Amino acid sequence: MLNLDRFITECRAALTQPTPELVIKEILERAVSSPSEVEAALGTPRQGSIATLHHARDLTILNVVWTPGMAVYPHDHRMWALIGLYGGREDNTFYRRSPTGLQVAGGKQLETGNTALLGESVIHAVANPLRVFTGAIHIYGGDFFGTARTEWDRETLQEQPFDIERARKLFADANQRWLAECGRAAGSS
Ligand SMILES: [Fe+2]
Repeated sequence: MLNLDRFITECRAALTQPTPELVIKEILERAVSSPSEVEAALGTPRQGSIATLHHARDLTILNVVWTPGMAVYPHDHRMWALIGLYGGREDNTFYRRSPTGLQVAGGKQLETGNTALLGESVIHAVANPLRVFTGAIHIYGGDFFGTARTEWDRETLQEQPFDIERARKLFADANQRWLAECGRAAGSS
């Protein structure tokens, strides 16, 4: 089983390095190379959620579980970010700003065991295209909750301040939809 305390201590120790994100990426790669060990430590994903594993001004570590079929609107982080998957799949769409608004600039599909490093100016949207939960560890080079940043409305692509409560509601709504879908499927079988 992944030793979470040791994992966090190793990540924190890397903050003294000139490029901590590269050192922490290796630590994360090592962890998610044994997905079942991570799942044993964090629990089997059963509902979408954002759980805080570590929160400090210089480092935030989250356990993010994406509900089947859920998608989160474009947002930035304004700090480097690392994603490591220990279950499911995470489809990332990247955007860039343009005079006419946000433009799609590419995409990356992350599978179980994959990691990705996002630079501090990256804007992305995330979706779980599968009918199973996706489990991820997200690591941010700063205060994820206390840093002012931006999100874009999914339909209008209107820029607005990031709101963690809106994000939490997105997870709650996705969980409700998924439970209703499962209930309908059980009822029709
Ligand atoms: Fe993100």
